[in-house]
Amino acid sequence: MFFAVDNEKCIQDNICVDECPAKILSMEGDGPVMVEGGEEICIRCGHCVAVCPVEAVGLDFLKPEDCIDIDKSLLPNEEQAHHFLTSRRSIRTYSKKNLPKEIIEKVLAVASCAPTGSNRQPVKWLVFHQREQVEAIAAHVIDWMKYVVVNHPEVAATMNMQKIIDDAANGIDRICRDAPHLVFTYSAKEFSVAPADCHTAIAYLELLLPVYGAGSCWAGYVNGASNQWPPLKEYLKLPEDHLVHGAAMIGYPEYEYYRIPPRNQPNIEYR
Ligand SMILES: Cc1cc2nc3c(=O)[nH]c(=O)nc-3n(C[C@H](O)[C@H](O)[C@H](O)COP(=O)(O)O)c2cc1C
Repeated sequence: MFFAVDNEKCIQDNICVDECPAKILSMEGDGPVMVEGGEEICIRCGHCVAVCPVEAVGLDFLKPEDCIDIDKSLLPNEEQAHHFLTSRRSIRTYSKKNLPKEIIEKVLAVASCAPTGSNRQPVKWLVFHQREQVEAIAAHVIDWMKYVVVNHPEVAATMNMQKIIDDAANGIDRICRDAPHLVFTYSAKEFSVAPADCHTAIAYLELLLPVYGAGSCWAGYVNGASNQWPPLKEYLKLPEDHLVHGAAMIGYPEYEYYRIPPRNQPNIEYR
């Protein structure tokens, strides 16, 4: 049975019916049932299972005991949450020490829990773990910039590409900041909201890495070149019909930050 209710446990509080994003549950006599054809519409988010206070709801692929219980004592308080979120910094100088794959995998497991449109979870990860690979990718991006400077000088000017090219010639890596590793998010073209899904996943990754003493920085130029510059596309060897929607350098920061620089006040308008 795709959607099953333990009617002995169910207290008919209607919570699963209210919370179902696809609105495919309805409360009948002694408990909730899934409407006809619901299985096809269900987005498999597991909310009905996760929200039931009495563990009465199960899906054929998810039982209450498959979920981690929420331990409120582990959640940060307001001050901790604000400090955690605002103390993350983009890292521009990395230690040469490698970030172990076990840590990368722990981080990506959590980043894969970031919200995705209709819970489609289209985000795929491509990790270049060797420094030489990161160098090769940075070199491709510099080649792309040289092409843009010649063929689209106005675009090159907005991104200050000539200076970046000159810096690269002087051994200064503005593309990947000499980071030891580079992570890409990508997805099949068919998912129209995949760019948002991938960017959100990178935000999770950026926020979690400091927990392991590590850090990251968006690799915006790499991201920009990835779907445009054929030699880089070839180097990435993505499956057919896939697009890159994000890239981040990761590694251990060489330096520690002591202060949180302020940002603009939020630009809010209530209507
Ligand atoms: C989409 C995006 C692209 C970025 N690309 C780069 C980049 O290519 N190189 C870089 O050093 N920083 C890059 N950054 C980092 C920003 O410069 C950084 O977030 C900003 O200066 C604020 O600093 P903070 O992240 O420490 O708060 C990028 C950030 C975003 C969100």
